[in-house]
Amino acid sequence: MTSQAPIRSLTGITTSGTPHLGNYVGAIRPAVRASRQPEIENFYFLANYHALIKCDDPDRVQRSTLEIAASWLAAGLDPEKVTFYRQADIPEIPELTWLLTCVTGKGLLNRAHAYKAALDKNEAAGEDPDFDVTAGLFMYPVLMAADIVLFSAHRVPVGRDQTQHLEMARDIAQRFNHLYGELLVLPEVVIDDNVALLPGLDGRKMSKSYNNTIPLFSSREQLRKLIGSIVTDSRAPGEPKDTEDSALFSIYRAFASQEETTAFAKAFAEGISWADAKQQLFERIDQEIGPMRERYEHLISHPEEVEALLVAGAEKARAVAIPLMRQLRTAVGLRALGAAQATATKTKDPHKDSLPVFKQYREKDGLFYFKLTSTGGQVLLQSKGFDSPREAGQAVKRLQTEGPAAANTLKDVLELPAGIEPATVEEALNRLLNSDNL
Ligand code: TRP
Repeated sequence: MTSQAPIRSLTGITTSGTPHLGNYVGAIRPAVRASRQPEIENFYFLANYHALIKCDDPDRVQRSTLEIAASWLAAGLDPEKVTFYRQADIPEIPELTWLLTCVTGKGLLNRAHAYKAALDKNEAAGEDPDFDVTAGLFMYPVLMAADIVLFSAHRVPVGRDQTQHLEMARDIAQRFNHLYGELLVLPEVVIDDNVALLPGLDGRKMSKSYNNTIPLFSSREQLRKLIGSIVTDSRAPGEPKDTEDSALFSIYRAFASQEETTAFAKAFAEGISWADAKQQLFERIDQEIGPMRERYEHLISHPEEVEALLVAGAEKARAVAIPLMRQLRTAVGLRALGAAQATATKTKDPHKDSLPVFKQYREKDGLFYFKLTSTGGQVLLQSKGFDSPREAGQAVKRLQTEGPAAANTLKDVLELPAGIEPATVEEALNRLLNSDNL
């Protein structure tokens, strides 16, 4: 990596639904805006392999892929300026998924929120814990890690619910690098706290699972009708209205300028009728979405145009993926038999196979301590004094079984010795974590 290498940003969208206004405000619009920044190289892809994990309706997967692609394009994504592709057009993704699978601790995947939630739900229903849980759901984080590291992405803009997946992608890449050399870029999660969380028709977060969405592209008439069905309170025309808990107001704010929002709040205070407020909201949304509608409808009725763009996008993406994949195959030993053995000539690190260790001890002050020591004998982490050996032992246990996440929660009882980088400790804890579970 040279210092001139541009920053690369990458994100994926699972193709299992129809884009709604919440997706537009929370993901599509900010991504299209960000894609216009020239200094960042942007990769956007349709995660149709991920869609298979939650959707077994082939027509739905296909239709959703078209709808999402058409929505992003209609919203202004320029496939000349970014790399826009479909996951399943990149055979290197499942190929890399396998290499990563082989370095991923099963214990790491056991801790994934989505997988755990499925088990908990079964448990609560008195079912077998594995009922209806596919290996695909279990492997979801590995596939996602492959999506990211195959393109050496530095940044991954996602919703907050994806944070753990990004941590796992880092852990998996780190483990791979540890075993085979520094080949993978460790991605960083980017969460934009400024994007609006849009409420849906019933005031809860707009989400397919609540069935309260407004499709991004529906006809003007349908849009007007849906906006008419947003829940409001029973205040009559002329009565001042609350902006605070109003879904209608929040949706308006996500589309309007500062001045428009202030004027709308004033209208609320002055007792605008709900019917008029809905009419204004409808017009404001349509002002932004209306001009995109024609392009969307054109693309939906010409899927072959979208197909051609995606095929060209996949070619661009593979120009990045293929050379890295070739290197990775060689690195792990999937090589032509006559090929030079890169690792045999590499001087072997004598500590490579040994692990950092925790040491527990008692000091003259009568308190119980522990420290984490690197394979080379350097102290990486020093605990404060505990009253009992049991407390010290519990903290060690958590660090061993939960890794860097536990270091964060235990930070009040831990000290970073001078000159030790947090990343070094993170790496050491991940090594222990992975070795534990392999
Ligand atoms: N899991 C992401 C979501 O549900 C979608 C996704 C798949 C993704 N692969 C990715 C996002 C890689 C970012 C990077 O939102």
